[in-house]
Amino acid sequence: MPDFFNPFSGTVPDRKLTHDELLRALRLDIAGELEAIHGYMAHADATDNALAKAVLTDIANEERVHAGELIRLLGILTNGEEDGFLRQGTLEVDTLAAKLAAPAPATAAVKDEPTIGSLRTTGA
Ligand SMILES: [Fe+2]
Repeated sequence: MPDFFNPFSGTVPDRKLTHDELLRALRLDIAGELEAIHGYMAHADATDNALAKAVLTDIANEERVHAGELIRLLGILTNGEEDGFLRQGTLEVDTLAAKLAAPAPATAAVKDEPTIGSLRTTGA
């Protein structure tokens, strides 16, 4: 569970946030949205009441939208730097997923044998 230091918890400071403080506040807000999603989904999963499950799931999905809004705002306020890091993380997972989904690499002996594909690229 996130436990960020929040110097403004429950109070409005007597000054405006600096830009860096705003970025940290947004990260805290994003964590709050994720924590809310977790709580609503856990409660939805823990009940057999269909209406309660539907309402809690709907609220959880609204929190997902809020998380997306805050992440987008953070991206804009960091001039895309945050988006770059998020994109890097996405690509790293995609790379690992592709490796796991790929068939085992061929051995060197098999790899050197001509295939229909290799014949096409060499024109042979
Ligand atoms: Fe929210």
